[in-house]
Amino acid sequence: MKQVFTGIAELYTPRERLERAAFAVRDGRFVWVGAEKDLPEEYRTWPRADLGGRGAVPGLVDAHSHLVYGGNRLGEYLKRARGESYEAILAAGGGIYATVRATHAASEDELYEWAKARAALFLAQGVTAIEIKSGYGLLPEAELKMLRVIRRLQETLPQHVFPTLLAHVVPQGWERKKYVAMFTGELIPEVARSGLAEAVDVFCDEGAFTLKETRRILEAALLHNLKIKLHAEQIAHTGATKLAAELGALSADHLEQTTSADWEALAQSGTVGTVLPGAAVILRKPFPNARAMWDAGVRVAIATDHNPGSSPLFSPWLGMQLTVSLGRLSLEEALMAHTENAALALGRADLGKIEPGAWADFVVVDSPHALKPLYHWGNQLIYAVYVSGNKALP
Ligand code: NIG
Ligand code: FE
Repeated sequence: MKQVFTGIAELYTPRERLERAAFAVRDGRFVWVGAEKDLPEEYRTWPRADLGGRGAVPGLVDAHSHLVYGGNRLGEYLKRARGESYEAILAAGGGIYATVRATHAASEDELYEWAKARAALFLAQGVTAIEIKSGYGLLPEAELKMLRVIRRLQETLPQHVFPTLLAHVVPQGWERKKYVAMFTGELIPEVARSGLAEAVDVFCDEGAFTLKETRRILEAALLHNLKIKLHAEQIAHTGATKLAAELGALSADHLEQTTSADWEALAQSGTVGTVLPGAAVILRKPFPNARAMWDAGVRVAIATDHNPGSSPLFSPWLGMQLTVSLGRLSLEEALMAHTENAALALGRADLGKIEPGAWADFVVVDSPHALKPLYHWGNQLIYAVYVSGNKALP
């Protein structure tokens, strides 16, 4: 399939800003991008789509989500808004454990349908690639059930899906040592064998896994040729960010409690630092200093962390806006953080950019100004969304 897109008033690639731009797409990937007047001869005879003088940006990449889950935690949200702590609710067997119970009670079909409906809301906002974690199963069979649901989403959603196995918390009634032994000795090998996940993530924090346990889990993942990611420094400073850098993780995510030494380690290793504005603001934690991280040389990404507890956030645009206002990134940097940098947090250099070779995922903005959706709070101004060169919306 060949197509040329013209009539683009303003385009962010995201590195570059072009006016009166055009691009050519063949077999789902960009093959040429530039000023419309420079469109090479060979593309001039291809079928054309005129975008009507609108702006365009790369499809957004959500590199951290917990899209598959049962139930909701509105009751907990009400309590937290009155001042009860996320940590205390978790320690008392609520929080993540409540979602684990609801996820156990749901069938695979139910989990699939609920996640599919959420993915449609993300697509409507221009999210064309999404990472989805397990982690609400905890027990081996329930983790595999979640991963099978994610596999089915990968096969049926219009978006690119990146599946991750998450070591979230120690299940109630389990001895920690036994659980880590099961996770490293049984679950990781089974997931590697079946190809149900591309990466392993660990919630390394107070109330979850210790730094030592995290290292064991990540080393097992590496041994089985899986990529690694980390929930790092959200509630307490544990040293998880430095561990992520040391082991060459794709990304360290959250980072609310990080220090300049942590940013230095990320910058040195090339591990992406992913800011999760939903969790930071909703849990009333310090907002990660995205500006300082960026200036220290960290590749900064932004993700929704969509989940029923710490971040019931459905809007990547709001996430970028919060990171501009509270994390002090520029609009252009925030866009880069939710596209090209986010793709790198998934180890993908072929997503999140409008460049020859990359998948032709892009958002047509309902304005000549491509960044207007970041300027208008709560008004997304999305005209159309394309994934792999195909119109996915409307
Ligand atoms: O990324 N921090 C740990 N895990 C999730 C929260 C999960 C939950 O509250 O259900 C997070 O914030
Ligand atoms: Fe998370």
